[in-house]
Amino acid sequence: MLINHQPIFMTHFSKQDILNLPGLERMHLINSCGGLKSANLIGTISEAGVSNLAVFNSVIHLGSNPPMLSFMLRPTTVERHSYTNFKKNSHFTVNHIHSDFVNKAHQTSAKYDEEVSEFKEVGFTEEFIADCKAPFVKESKIKMGCKYINEYYIEEHACRLIIGEIQHLVVEEGIMDQDGFLDLTRAGSAGIIGLDGYVKTELIERYAYARPNQELKPLKP
Ligand SMILES: Cc1cc2nc3c(=O)[nH]c(=O)nc-3n(C[C@H](O)[C@H](O)[C@H](O)COP(=O)(O)O)c2cc1C
Repeated sequence: MLINHQPIFMTHFSKQDILNLPGLERMHLINSCGGLKSANLIGTISEAGVSNLAVFNSVIHLGSNPPMLSFMLRPTTVERHSYTNFKKNSHFTVNHIHSDFVNKAHQTSAKYDEEVSEFKEVGFTEEFIADCKAPFVKESKIKMGCKYINEYYIEEHACRLIIGEIQHLVVEEGIMDQDGFLDLTRAGSAGIIGLDGYVKTELIERYAYARPNQELKPLKP
């Protein structure tokens, strides 16, 4: 398919304009207008022992005490292997996607049968650590082992907000600053625009805590 990259200068869409767009165009527009999203692979394992891996762009931080994250799960009107798996054994892993393997990560969104492991099919290495039942992605430099805690059904669009407690956090050397900040740009963690655009990231600046009427100070590395 040819994509027209000609810039369109300042288009104002009313709600009705948005609703009038062809379905695919509306989907791309609304999926990308909310800003850059995180790029993660969620790993799970079935009762039969088949590992499962799928790309998710909706993982967000929820709270640090206790450490929690959340992500949006699409409607369960079709089979959702990740969901079935972590509902059975309460465990899933969240693994950063790095810019050197975005192609393989994207391929995990294909609808493979439940007896097929995306790890093997797409070419990622499974890794099990500590007491976490779900598989981690060895190639990922930042990864979390999570316990399923709760879910909230969102009736407006039949999706579920899944809440996970972070029980393990594994970070490769050279990524964490002394104050705990993870420099995701050093890790080469990718970001996602909409549903199919992957980006590299660049750190512009870190800032000290902002206060009214005080000059904003960049943090010294
Ligand atoms: C870039 C991208 C981001 C995605 N993000 C999500 C997401 O946040 N939530 C979701 O339910 N599905 C998301 N998907 C779709 C899943 O990756 C896809 O449905 C996958 O087949 C699910 O696998 P499973 O059935 O093994 O769980 C995304 C797909 C792509 C390509």
